[in-house]
Amino acid sequence: MSEQVSSRGTWSGRLGFILAAAGSAVGLGNLWKFPYITYENGGGAFVLVYLGAIVLVGLPVMMAEILLGRRAERNPVGAFRVLSQGKAGARLWPGVGMLGVISGFVILSYYSVVAGWTVRYIGLAVSGRLETLAAHPKELEAFFREFLSSGTQQVLFHTLFMGATVGIVILGVQKGIERATKVLMPLLFVILLVLVGYSVTTPGFGEAIAFLFRPNFGQLTRGAVLEALGHSFFTLSLGMGAMLTYGSYMRRDNSILKASAVITFLDTLIAIMACIVMFSVIKSFDFEVTKSAVILFTTLPTVFIQLPGGSLVSALFYLLVAFAALTSTISLLEVVSSFAIDELGWGRRRASLTMGAAIWVFGVLSAVSLGANETLSGINLIGRSSTEGVFGTLDYLASNWFLPVGGFFIALFAGWSLGRRESQETLEEGHGPMAVYSFWRFLVRFVAPLAIGAIIVSVILGVEYN
Ligand code: TRP
Repeated sequence: MSEQVSSRGTWSGRLGFILAAAGSAVGLGNLWKFPYITYENGGGAFVLVYLGAIVLVGLPVMMAEILLGRRAERNPVGAFRVLSQGKAGARLWPGVGMLGVISGFVILSYYSVVAGWTVRYIGLAVSGRLETLAAHPKELEAFFREFLSSGTQQVLFHTLFMGATVGIVILGVQKGIERATKVLMPLLFVILLVLVGYSVTTPGFGEAIAFLFRPNFGQLTRGAVLEALGHSFFTLSLGMGAMLTYGSYMRRDNSILKASAVITFLDTLIAIMACIVMFSVIKSFDFEVTKSAVILFTTLPTVFIQLPGGSLVSALFYLLVAFAALTSTISLLEVVSSFAIDELGWGRRRASLTMGAAIWVFGVLSAVSLGANETLSGINLIGRSSTEGVFGTLDYLASNWFLPVGGFFIALFAGWSLGRRESQETLEEGHGPMAVYSFWRFLVRFVAPLAIGAIIVSVILGVEYN
């Protein structure tokens, strides 16, 4: 067993795991997606449902995933196979892992396109052009719309980002993933702190806080509840085996409970900070948000030009967002590659290159569905502006359906198929006697599956979107 561990690689220590997993969690989900879906869904009540989902479903499911990974020391498909041996449904459980690998494939394909936008913005800021454009919000919006509908540019930046992701995954667990995260995560946090400090001084700060934290349940639709649940999975990288895969490299002298709590806390904090900054700007400058999906790229630059050294601040900021996205894309590709390495017997290099290329091809469909190709841009399953095109459709399906369904089965497996003795043993490794063990078991056995199931069923029975 130990032979196998060393050839797969492990994190260098306690900090290595936490940083890499937090790097996976913190990404465009926090900085790009959370602010805009919160805005679309009217703030307060949506945020409250989201926070509830994080604590009651997200945190216990994260512990379940890491536990399964560390016990099996394998990719999601292999983990379900070895852990279900001799148990009910042993033939079916690996399918949950497979759903995860497919979700990783799909998510990475369009995620890399948005990540590419951040690369474009670094260049824009460095050249000083962002500052000029941001002085007239209308011009910046027009610029961005044109950028989205240029197929060539979308494919170009998508390509750059997939290239960087593949490069790092080839280097492997310690050298590539850990090293990048160690410096960049803390730096992102610092720059966000500075921006929050600035927003406190803007006139719209109070209104932004009220929007975020004063719930109005009248506005909450079933669709919004599902979206809050789906996003709690997306933002914590749950429901598809990414945390399971990272957990498979986690050392046994590390507490799963503590690591999960830290990661969840940091991720939530950063999402809320991003909202405070962006909503303060929107409320202060009477900003007209025509398309909320691009707040990060059209609203935020207007703050930067108010700050001393605006071009520099924005260049640094988009650089850090790009890195936050990179530590997330790495984890997505790592799931798909570790599947090919363990299950198909490929080498790391071949796995990352082949899977990366396939994902890139699939991602081109999303890249040209933002205006460049009319047919692909026109698809819309449920008729909301954020579900437009191949891009919007994949994001909707993956985060609202694939991840919660994956999370449902992960919770069921950890709560019901795995015996009390098995789960307790792994959770207490590196932790000692765990006072909240029974509470965790209650959450994964009952609360998480019932909550996910009830939300999904209510949406299937009566979808009501506004
Ligand atoms: N959590 C990341 C974000 O918020 C995205 C991400 C990375 C992800 N790995 C994942 C989402 C695995 C779902 C599953 O940006």
